[in-house]
Amino acid sequence: MASLLYTTLALMAFLSSSIVCSAFPEFSFGWGGGTGAGGGGDGSFGNGQGYPGLLPEFYDFSCPQANDIVMSVLEKVIAKEPRMAASILRLHFHDCFVQGCDASVLLDDNVMFASEKNSVPNSNSIRGFEVIDEIKAKLEEACPQTVSCADVLALAARGSTVLSGGPNWELPLGRRDATQASLSVSNNNLPPPNSTIQNLITLFRRQGLDVVDLVSLSGAHTIGMARCGAFKQRLYNQDGNDQPDSTLEITYSNGLKTVCPKNGGDNNISPLDFASPARFDNTYFKLIMFGKGLLTSDQVLLAGNVEETMFLVKAYAEDYSLFFDQFARSMVKMGNINPLTGYQGEVRKNCRMPN
Ligand code: HEM
Repeated sequence: MASLLYTTLALMAFLSSSIVCSAFPEFSFGWGGGTGAGGGGDGSFGNGQGYPGLLPEFYDFSCPQANDIVMSVLEKVIAKEPRMAASILRLHFHDCFVQGCDASVLLDDNVMFASEKNSVPNSNSIRGFEVIDEIKAKLEEACPQTVSCADVLALAARGSTVLSGGPNWELPLGRRDATQASLSVSNNNLPPPNSTIQNLITLFRRQGLDVVDLVSLSGAHTIGMARCGAFKQRLYNQDGNDQPDSTLEITYSNGLKTVCPKNGGDNNISPLDFASPARFDNTYFKLIMFGKGLLTSDQVLLAGNVEETMFLVKAYAEDYSLFFDQFARSMVKMGNINPLTGYQGEVRKNCRMPN
């Protein structure tokens, strides 16, 4: 009896909270509806710093089983192909850095816009769309037009991290989906693999993310693969003088040459963390300490002569729990970049196209 009373009071307090009311003007709280006033995406809110419009409890009443549905599909898919966890984690990153976390990355070509799937960083590279489709189809069966594709990406990124052995975190939800994609922003905002440290810092800062976020989020490269084309330059001609990258350890470099020949083989793949490519741990940082970061953008975190990133690489290499804790915080911050909320955008029925 006492517990029933407590639950009722807690529910009343929650429903009357001003945060809920101001964040959800139609107060649909995720129920039904799902049509909004155009896919603004103007980024007038949010800089990745504690954006208040999202709530972990967003689907507690409208689709309480949302996370279980996401996890059940992920468990099946990742057991069959462990790399898929990495691919899905990366999808969320490539979504959030392009006009905010609005599932724009999932949109196919359309008469109105060109898909981000064909941008330089994405083309022939990002994967996992069928898995997102499967999750979304199951969600549409259970809770029609309720859980946005942007939230599916955020939930699936967290689930993929957890299922690979990484940290868990409380995830703010309630993002809505864009009705537009942007090929040019995808080309401009996503960092290339041969980035200098300054370039990385600039591109992350543009999203409201700091140097701590840059280093911890780069730790996502503790899982997954990269194509030879993304690191070939380092093996043969890093600075235009036909010499390999001097920050790349030599035996590791020679091994990489067998999967990544000077001519051709651009689509051959190599693990970003060869010691434990399917395990989310801090080996990525340990390898960087030995000159065995695969991409230029990985190794410059240590070799780029920026004291703070050098310090953080060492700290995360020494203490996995420090890395896990910061990764979780930075994922929440990244997931809060310019979300569409309230009447903005829509909840797509099919993640590949606007309604
Ligand atoms: C710091 C700047 C970053 C750069 C320059 C970068 C670049 C890349 C590149 C070039 C690849 C290989 C793609 C391919 O060859 O097809 C890759 C893979 C990957 N990236 Fe990043 N990335 C960065 C940050 C991030 C962040 C912030 C995350 C997630 C939080 C992330 C997650 C991943 C994952 C998990 C993979 C493996 C994907 C797979 O196996 O399918 N990356 N990244």
